[in-house]
Amino acid sequence: MRCLPSILGLALAASLGACAAPRDAETPGIPLGAPGLTWAAKNTEQKFGFMAAQVHPRMQQVFLEYKPDNYADFSCSNCHGATMEQIDYAMPNQSLYALPPDRPYDDAIDFDSPIAVFMMTKVTPTLQELFNQGEGPPTKVTCFNCHPSS
Ligand code: HEC
Ligand code: HEC
Repeated sequence: MRCLPSILGLALAASLGACAAPRDAETPGIPLGAPGLTWAAKNTEQKFGFMAAQVHPRMQQVFLEYKPDNYADFSCSNCHGATMEQIDYAMPNQSLYALPPDRPYDDAIDFDSPIAVFMMTKVTPTLQELFNQGEGPPTKVTCFNCHPSS
């Protein structure tokens, strides 16, 4: 059974109930999303839980520090796009600004230098760090985990 309910509340309820090992539901305080495994080692259910429990809150903080007024409603869809549920959270998000594969950063600096610097120095390294906690194969995070290439 796939376990990607459309509403976050349902997702959390489902992870604690139907979709998780019973022991998780009986042991309070077990963090969602298998934080002891790297991103590459997680199954889809663990990826969903990790996005909800760690990636979203941490990234919301990072985006809010950058521009408090713009990201008060920061959510899954800022990264995943409006059609995220229909496409099973597939990334990269085709509605984000497309970057050239060769020199994405040079292009981004010309397009909008403050956000390019923010992407390079905050967003990419934060996701790199989150994805590589725990045991398992590493993931190299680049602009193209989120952005399509032009
Ligand atoms: C800061 C950007 C960001 C936010 C916010 C975010 N995600 Fe993600 N998410 C990603 C990226 C990047 C990937 C793809 C990682 C990779 O390349 O494997 C991903 C992958 C996923 C996947 C796995 C998809 C697959 O095909 O394996 C799921 C499920 C998911 N996200 C759900 C969520 C949910 C639910 C939320 C909100 C609670 C959320 N994400 C918030 C960036 C984000
Ligand atoms: C974790 C996902 C993620 C990664 C990695 C990422 N970005 Fe972004 N980027 C976003 C999101 C989400 C936005 C849209 C922010 C908004 O809506 O204000 C964005 C916006 C931008 C914009 C502004 C586009 C516009 O339409 O205004 C540029 C330029 C950009 N990113 C460049 C980069 C570059 C260069 C890299 C690699 C160094 C990078 N990004 C890495 C998620 C990401």
